[in-house]
Amino acid sequence: MDLEKQIYLRKSCRKYLDDEIDFTLIDDFLSNVKPLIPEIDYSYEIFAKNEVKIKTRWSAPYYLAIYSEKKENYGLNIGFIFQQLSLYLQSINIGSCWVGLASLKEKNPEFVILISLGKSDDISRDIDSFKRKKLIEISDFEDERLIPAQLAPSAVNSQPWYFKHTDTGFDIYKVKYNLVKRKILSKWNDIDVGIALAHLYVSNKDSFKFEIKNKENIKGHTYVGSLII
Ligand SMILES: Cc1cc2nc3c(=O)[nH]c(=O)nc-3n(C[C@H](O)[C@H](O)[C@H](O)COP(=O)(O)O)c2cc1C
Repeated sequence: MDLEKQIYLRKSCRKYLDDEIDFTLIDDFLSNVKPLIPEIDYSYEIFAKNEVKIKTRWSAPYYLAIYSEKKENYGLNIGFIFQQLSLYLQSINIGSCWVGLASLKEKNPEFVILISLGKSDDISRDIDSFKRKKLIEISDFEDERLIPAQLAPSAVNSQPWYFKHTDTGFDIYKVKYNLVKRKILSKWNDIDVGIALAHLYVSNKDSFKFEIKNKENIKGHTYVGSLII
């Protein structure tokens, strides 16, 4: 299972076939997945499309609902775990997309987000068609080791991550938005940063370490954590 390879060809899938999926593959993958913050409990549930409220113009046959204890940084943990699932699904020709614009029919205080999924014959693309910030825009100096994070998906492609080199690795920050943008994006930003960390983890499986230290924010950015890759 080469998840790293998927980073360079994946895309959010918005065109699905109606074929059935073997959900035990998802259960098996998630039973061995690495969490970012092991202390935070989470769970998931798979719905058919008519069982959820969809506000996008497109739809998928299935939606995976994610729930979490709402402890500090739960969004980071959810992004980290379920982006690994998304890369795995991609590797077995199942397309997926994080969907902020969908919700459950019944309110649940632990609900975080839905991920659409289904078989698809339109799930991969050429590296040149990724629309992303330049490496120099996401770090204090250009570093090719950050390409996996650069290519990570994020809500409205906001790419809210910023990396600063340290003696041993990087500090990762998230962009501080103005009030209007913050209202819309803040809910998704932690998930986005968790997704970028997942890409760095699958690309550096043996050396990846993440820790939240007590560090200051920098201009325009909020400190999230420190990593070694
Ligand atoms: C937290 C989150 C929420 C998202 N919500 C939606 C959504 O509601 N509708 C949609 O079409 N795409 C959604 N996306 C997909 C992004 O638009 C997409 O990842 C981004 O534009 C980059 O494109 P790519 O994933 O194809 O590389 C979401 C992505 C993330 C990470």
